Amino acid sequence: MDKSKRTAVIAGNWKMNMTPAQTEAFIKELAPMVAGLDGCSIVLCVPFVDIATAVKAAEGTNIHVGAENVHFAEKGAYTGEVSAEMLTSVGTEYVIVGHSERRQYFGETDVTVNQRLTAALKAGLKVIVCVGETLTEREQGVTLETVSRQTKVALMGVTADEMKNVIIAYEPVWAIGTGRTATAEQAEEVCADIRGVVCSLYGKEVAEATTVQYGGSMNAKNAEELLSMKNIDGGLIGGASLKTADFTVIVKAAQ
Ligand code: PGA
Repeated sequence: MDKSKRTAVIAGNWKMNMTPAQTEAFIKELAPMVAGLDGCSIVLCVPFVDIATAVKAAEGTNIHVGAENVHFAEKGAYTGEVSAEMLTSVGTEYVIVGHSERRQYFGETDVTVNQRLTAALKAGLKVIVCVGETLTEREQGVTLETVSRQTKVALMGVTADEMKNVIIAYEPVWAIGTGRTATAEQAEEVCADIRGVVCSLYGKEVAEATTVQYGGSMNAKNAEELLSMKNIDGGLIGGASLKTADFTVIVKAAQ
């Protein structure tokens, strides 16, 4: 990555793991391990019920707290949902939108991803928007088309100025939780393409300043190689973000 132009972001995505008590213990353990590692932003995206605990435990450290989803409406009759303002009110700084598990199991579409993203930006959150092809799409040779469509629709209505709060995570669906990582070359190809899409929408300066992460079985062993690629500016990490030692190795690889 080019650190003179953009910030590296290493973000954990805990998914449906960890209670508040476990969250507090995890952050207390992690904080001294990553103290002073300021070559990247360190983010933990945690379940809603863990956010307040995480924010408190991360106080005075270089760890930032994010949510794993957000609703697009400001408030109202949306049983079970959480608004962007509710997130910021408890100290949340980041939010993931459009994760493939949300697209796959909860009916998320490119359009609702866009709605969530714009609502989150409006509330002042930094947004990690996930894009990525399924195995069938890769095998059909439509990876770049798929990812570029997802990126374009996700960014509908987003201004060039708002792009400073947008991080794009390339997560090939076939690599998530499977132990099967994209090769550094495969990941680089798509991340470069995503930057090209951002360039076509907002111009070169914004494209070069946009953080593009890779996610999908990134771990302590493969992080360094992936992060050495020109267009990979960080990682969105599932499984390996649940272990302080592994997550720390990845943070160090991003220095
Ligand atoms: P994984 O998950 O690292 O466990 O593959 C990544 C993600 O889903 O964000």
